[in-house]
Amino acid sequence: MATRKNLTVNRESLVHKLRYAAGRPHRIAPYLKRAARDRWLAFKHPDHVSYYRAVMASDTRRNPEAAVGSQTHERWLALGEMQFEYLLGHGLRPGARMLDIGCGNLRAGWRFIEYLDAGHYYGIDISPDILIAAKQTLTERGLQAKVPHLTLTRNLTLDFLPEAYFDVVHAHSVFSHSPIEVIEECFAHVGRVLAPGGHFDFTFDRTTGTEHQVLREDFYYRTQTLLDLAARHGLAARFMEDWEKLGHGQSKIRVSAVGADA
Ligand SMILES: C[S@@+](CC[C@H](N)C(=O)[O-])C[C@H]1O[C@@H](n2cnc3c(N)ncnc32)[C@H](O)[C@@H]1O
Repeated sequence: MATRKNLTVNRESLVHKLRYAAGRPHRIAPYLKRAARDRWLAFKHPDHVSYYRAVMASDTRRNPEAAVGSQTHERWLALGEMQFEYLLGHGLRPGARMLDIGCGNLRAGWRFIEYLDAGHYYGIDISPDILIAAKQTLTERGLQAKVPHLTLTRNLTLDFLPEAYFDVVHAHSVFSHSPIEVIEECFAHVGRVLAPGGHFDFTFDRTTGTEHQVLREDFYYRTQTLLDLAARHGLAARFMEDWEKLGHGQSKIRVSAVGADA
């Protein structure tokens, strides 16, 4: 499937908003409602993590699958399968130890948990509400015997995790919701927990134009910005061209410790 990304548009510009609204008048009311809610939450929670935690609480109350970005159960299943199949195609084996940053309600996580050896999956998230939904997914899938680790976090220092431990670190659709400071915090610490030869894959919303954000919820970065940031933290990073062929709206970068094969 070919990608249909609009890489040049600035979604925060007034011209874009007016054009978009003119073409889709039925979306104006929901957009204004969401914008009003987000402004209120941003006023109540000035720091990003608290703000986004509140967004997730509100979204999860309505529908946990929609809260992680899937409007239907079929899409929820398909998006999880896409993440799983991609890593399988890149050599994931049952003995690997995996850290899933921003694991959500285990859209992909349940497949990794099912596949990996017991105790090898670690999911972390900033949202207590989505982690409760994650436990429900785990129960529904009957995966209790796999004893996955699900942990609430408020930052990405990864300080509670062991050194040189994870073969795969993964963050799908997390940096698309993260300001650059959050991504930098992750880059500053992820190298410590990566096992020799391990890698960290993350998706991001890509622009080739002006970097911008929408409602403090969606952040658009240039590839080079993220590659340079990774390099500043002693990490090798490369753009994953094969992910583009899958037709997902976001792009993917793979990071590894310098000297390892990225
Ligand atoms: C769009 S959902 C994707 C969930 C999951 N990765 C998937 O693909 O189904 C983004 C998730 O990342 C979490 N999140 C956002 N910012 C985070 C951060 N800085 N650290 C950890 N989790 C974060 C959110 O709470 C949410 O569960």
